[in-house]
Amino acid sequence: MGAKSIAVLTSGGDAPGMNAAVRAVVRSALSFDMKVYGVMRGYNGLLNGDVKEMSMRSVSDIMQHGGTALFTARSPEFNTAEGVKKAADKCRAMGIEGVVVIGGDGSFRGARDLCGEGISCIGVPGTIDNDIACTDYTIGYDTALNTAMEMIDRIRDTTESHDRCSVVEVMGRRCGDIALHTSIAVGAMATLVPEVPYDFQRDIVDRMKLAQSTGKRHYIIVVAEGVGHTQDLAEKIQEATGIETRATILGHVQRGGSPTLRDRVVASRMGYHAVELLYNGASNRVVALKGETIVDYDITEALDMPRVFDENLYRISARLSI
Ligand code: F6P
Repeated sequence: MGAKSIAVLTSGGDAPGMNAAVRAVVRSALSFDMKVYGVMRGYNGLLNGDVKEMSMRSVSDIMQHGGTALFTARSPEFNTAEGVKKAADKCRAMGIEGVVVIGGDGSFRGARDLCGEGISCIGVPGTIDNDIACTDYTIGYDTALNTAMEMIDRIRDTTESHDRCSVVEVMGRRCGDIALHTSIAVGAMATLVPEVPYDFQRDIVDRMKLAQSTGKRHYIIVVAEGVGHTQDLAEKIQEATGIETRATILGHVQRGGSPTLRDRVVASRMGYHAVELLYNGASNRVVALKGETIVDYDITEALDMPRVFDENLYRISARLSI
């Protein structure tokens, strides 16, 4: 027998498209005649009882907005065994049998722990980084890519006008997917990602000189946040090549903005699937996109999967962008 009363929360870094997922969870649950609650500010809301019953209209007009209408937080209290137990007790007191957790790996670890205390949980991957191993796609990734691409196109205008080099840092602490894909889309001359070690002379200076010998006069280098030292790198490039170089850190601009169609549609499909799982009595599952198909995995297995970086695409990118 599945859950009759469920809750939805967003946790960790926000991502455009989370609102579409929340809307899908609420509307799907109501369509299955389940009670559904919105939990404010991630796991903190469960601990504090900051929870409100949702109706069809509670999620009207949120899908087109970035951020999350439920707000989000990282909860140090929930990261303790006592915190998890307290949250499970609060769920029981409110009659909440299942929780849909929209967030990243850290949020899924919380969901797994809450399952251990007897509350059915389903994870929905929401993070701009696309760094969750079990899924080809995380909610927010497409919007972040398009924002980064648009920003770098703008940077290119001024870089080109001055015959300069621009080193642009994009988000991605452990994962170079945003860097690789925007790099291909903007035709950057080099891409630095945490997954692939680089050699300053070979991969940057020599490439710039080779490009220069074919008539190139301006250069874009995309660096993932996890590689770090973006300002230092820009100074080093200027010193080694004599080419005026500027650093730009795009930062949190990549986390905001109206979600793209892809993010809204994937989020809606994932939110629906999460509720269907709870309705059918499933627990401790994470929803994922494999190719264009929505699937689900055991959370513990999903958390143990190794993430695979597309090194082939990385090599293709290097061949195209010179
Ligand atoms: O995980 C998403 C992300 O945007 C990362 O790319 C980035 O490193 C991190 O969150 C930033 O977190 P915060 O907003 O807490 O500074």
